[in-house]
Amino acid sequence: MKDQLQTEVGESVAKVSILVLHGPNLNLLGRREPDTYGHMTLPEIDERLQALAAQLGAELQTLQSNSEGALIDALHAAMDPAGAPVDGVLINPGGYTHTSVALRDAIAGIGLPAVEVHLSNVHAREEFRHRSLIAPVCVGQISGFGWRSYELGLRGLLDTIADRAASSLL
Ligand code: DQA
Repeated sequence: MKDQLQTEVGESVAKVSILVLHGPNLNLLGRREPDTYGHMTLPEIDERLQALAAQLGAELQTLQSNSEGALIDALHAAMDPAGAPVDGVLINPGGYTHTSVALRDAIAGIGLPAVEVHLSNVHAREEFRHRSLIAPVCVGQISGFGWRSYELGLRGLLDTIADRAASSLL
């Protein structure tokens, strides 16, 4: 059962539910290469995202894993009708961005809108980071704004979900 939002006229509408996935090594944020990734820790980023989501009428389920399989399992669970309903995915795939066909296939397979985010500007870094296997199956990619990439990505994802819902009513 989704949490309900109360509109100004007293109607009850379901909150949009977003799965936030953080890939490998992102648990080290705050300590890991701070010149590249900044000083904010992952729990601090999640806290800011939760606050923004509450403001925008959405709820978040967040998961960090260093394992490709656990990230894929979480994506599969997002399309399970018996599980917690999910409307979209915000993902920083970390190093799997550049290597994981399996993660890309999982995102394509579940058919939910996804946005890829990166703290660093991957296009201004080593050449192997310029290619994302994930971006082509996402609505878009946000890269280079530090922890704010997550906030920008969440806003873009929620706007996309709202646009799709509105056009399905036409
Ligand atoms: C990253 C960029 C990736 O290339 C790298 O492997 C990471 C972090 C980022 O957020 O900037 O782990 O996804």
